[in-house]
Amino acid sequence: MNKIKETISRDDIIEAFSALPSLPVVIQKLHNLIEDQNIDIKTVSNVIETDPGFTARVLKLVNSPFYGLSRGVTSVGEAITILGFDAVHQLILTTSLLKVFDSDSTEPSIKDFWHHSFGVGTIAKHLIDQNDKDTRNEVFLCGILHDIGRLIFIKIAPELFSWFYYKRGAATGINEEAEYYEIDHQKTGQLLAEKWNFPDSIAMAIGQHHSPLNADKYQLHASAIHIADILSRALALGDSGNSFVSEFYPEAWKLLDLSMNQLGDRLTKAFEEIDSQQDTIKDLCS
Ligand SMILES: [Fe+2]
Ligand SMILES: [Fe+2]
Repeated sequence: MNKIKETISRDDIIEAFSALPSLPVVIQKLHNLIEDQNIDIKTVSNVIETDPGFTARVLKLVNSPFYGLSRGVTSVGEAITILGFDAVHQLILTTSLLKVFDSDSTEPSIKDFWHHSFGVGTIAKHLIDQNDKDTRNEVFLCGILHDIGRLIFIKIAPELFSWFYYKRGAATGINEEAEYYEIDHQKTGQLLAEKWNFPDSIAMAIGQHHSPLNADKYQLHASAIHIADILSRALALGDSGNSFVSEFYPEAWKLLDLSMNQLGDRLTKAFEEIDSQQDTIKDLCS
């Protein structure tokens, strides 16, 4: 343990931040547009079309067999009409993050990592009141990013990550992580969200997703991520290197104010959405 600790420190992690690119401009622009109540398809498609890579992804998704369209869609505007703003926004966000954190990691595989992140984001979004669109969008982003702190650990020293989480044969919780890296993945992720100027709600929920009651006025965001994280683990949705089961906070579940029947319905919808984008995520990771 001591030998490993000599090779990595909080300073190494903070330094790694400077090597990370800023969030792509398209994401920032889309985020601002989607916040705007008077959003229109033309403006959004114009922003997307400034990036050929994003344009290709959107068209590939809408033309995938999942949507079963009888003819090919060739314009981003038409794709938005079919998929909806939210699905397009989520696709672009996920694509960008995958590009920023491109990695050859095998433990966990990058595909499993994003499967977990996308699963948590999608489930968390469906746990929120369906009329509260703003919170749903924010919570999706929190879910996608919630374990991003671990990708920074992987980026700095993948072989140490593999040893620490998979090979040393001991459960790895937040406390062990904080001892080993001198900072845990919640805090590392929060720092990244702050670097990228995400709203406080997102930074705070990432920073407290394993202790959602400490998230002050963003307890609802953090609770949705906390419960979605536990559910996605139970449902074997991907892997983010976490072998330990997070402590369950019943108060977080109560905050969501859902009956078991409602939970069943919401999970069904979440799984439909996860299935619809599965091929795209696999494709992005290959
Ligand atoms: Fe986590
Ligand atoms: Fe997680």
